[in-house]
Amino acid sequence: MKRDAEELLKELFPDAVISRSNKDWITRSEQAIAKTTQSRDIYPVVDHTQGEGPWIYDLKGNQYLDMTSGVAVRALGFQNPAVHEFEKRIHGYLREVPGQDFDIIPQTLLAERLLQITPGDYEREVFFTTSGGRAVEAALKSLMDTKHLFRFIAFRPAFHGRTGYSLAVTASKAIQKNYFPQGLDVIRGPYPYCFRCPFGQREDECDLECLHYLRDTIQYEATDIAGIIFEPIAGEGGIVPAPLRYIRELRALANEIETSLISDEVQAGIGRTGHWWSIQHADVAPDYICTAKSLGGGFPFGACIGPKPMFTDYGRHSETFGGEPYVALLSLAVLRIIERDNLIENARNRGEQLLAGLKDIQASSPIIGDVRGRGLMCAVELVTDKTTNQPSSDFRDRLVANCVKKQNLWVLGSGRNAIRFLPPLTISTEQIDIALERFEKAVKAVQ
Ligand SMILES: Cc1ncc(COP(=O)(O)O)c(C=O)c1O
Repeated sequence: MKRDAEELLKELFPDAVISRSNKDWITRSEQAIAKTTQSRDIYPVVDHTQGEGPWIYDLKGNQYLDMTSGVAVRALGFQNPAVHEFEKRIHGYLREVPGQDFDIIPQTLLAERLLQITPGDYEREVFFTTSGGRAVEAALKSLMDTKHLFRFIAFRPAFHGRTGYSLAVTASKAIQKNYFPQGLDVIRGPYPYCFRCPFGQREDECDLECLHYLRDTIQYEATDIAGIIFEPIAGEGGIVPAPLRYIRELRALANEIETSLISDEVQAGIGRTGHWWSIQHADVAPDYICTAKSLGGGFPFGACIGPKPMFTDYGRHSETFGGEPYVALLSLAVLRIIERDNLIENARNRGEQLLAGLKDIQASSPIIGDVRGRGLMCAVELVTDKTTNQPSSDFRDRLVANCVKKQNLWVLGSGRNAIRFLPPLTISTEQIDIALERFEKAVKAVQ
């Protein structure tokens, strides 16, 4: 941590002891911060004062190659020079104008820009939020408000958020839902998780049995469906890309039963997979798109893009911090930089390099059962052995710990037994090579 940053902290809280010990801060965090998703036995305290591109540091100054982008938040890496320049230019502009109570140019312009990059030729509009879960809730509320239907189709696994209605459509880990009442009626279909096909089929020769099963389920359960909410790549479920023909057939099913398709692009959107939106790989236009994470350039920001009108009247839905001008401007800058620097193409190319490298490692490893991904959204799935493909959360946890603690490769788990790779879209060929080299060392140490 930089000396002046330490001084600043002392100034802000004169009674506090500002130590440089990782152990101290871990203990104090445990005391002061509610349990959420921390894994304090693996990750050291991150130095909040330094970092550049995909590099982050702990309090001792150790450098790590970050393959998480803060769970797909920092699409442009840390301290992106173009973003810095941009922030200097808007220094002094107003930051705190509630965009949903008063009109401001940045919000309107950002809405126009998002509509420009959204597929489909029907009339749409944008609702701004401050998180992914809230972007999902905006879509669900919009459908209930405009259709007066209250039942949704969602998948297993599926992650759409942890609050209210978004938790109701989530099915990721029991711990997230236990004892929290279900806020919506949901019919669940099996996610097209081809490596673990519940119908025992192989992706290259199946008849999309999972989709037929969903169609049957609807007939058995109910046909009054407000909408289908779907992740084209199941993010928290283990980075599982749905087959493109499945996505096309799901769109057709939505049309057939006259319901709306919501594409949850909170983790996969904003260029990460090699298109602005991951559903575009299937050449399909959804009715709604939910986005967040990368959209705000590191600030809490989200958006739901849906058919006009999304709500039947003023006041049906709103958020105090939705559409703040400063973040809307940053968001426009992020979109502009991605376009100007061809970062979607970079995501596609570097993603291919990453996937190929991970497949090479898989070939000589008895514990990597599957390697998959689209663009810079990739994962490896750990198994006890390749004959049974039994999921191994133990190997996964040990591998994550080895990557972070021994190889200085900052990675995150996903699902029960996968490790995800979500580097910034600015990642270079050399940096992917370094990540692969470090990951291979970790795999060899753990297996
Ligand atoms: C696909 C998807 N939808 C929704 C969410 C919820 O986003 P947030 O945590 O910003 O509410 C997430 C978060 O990981 C996500 O991956």
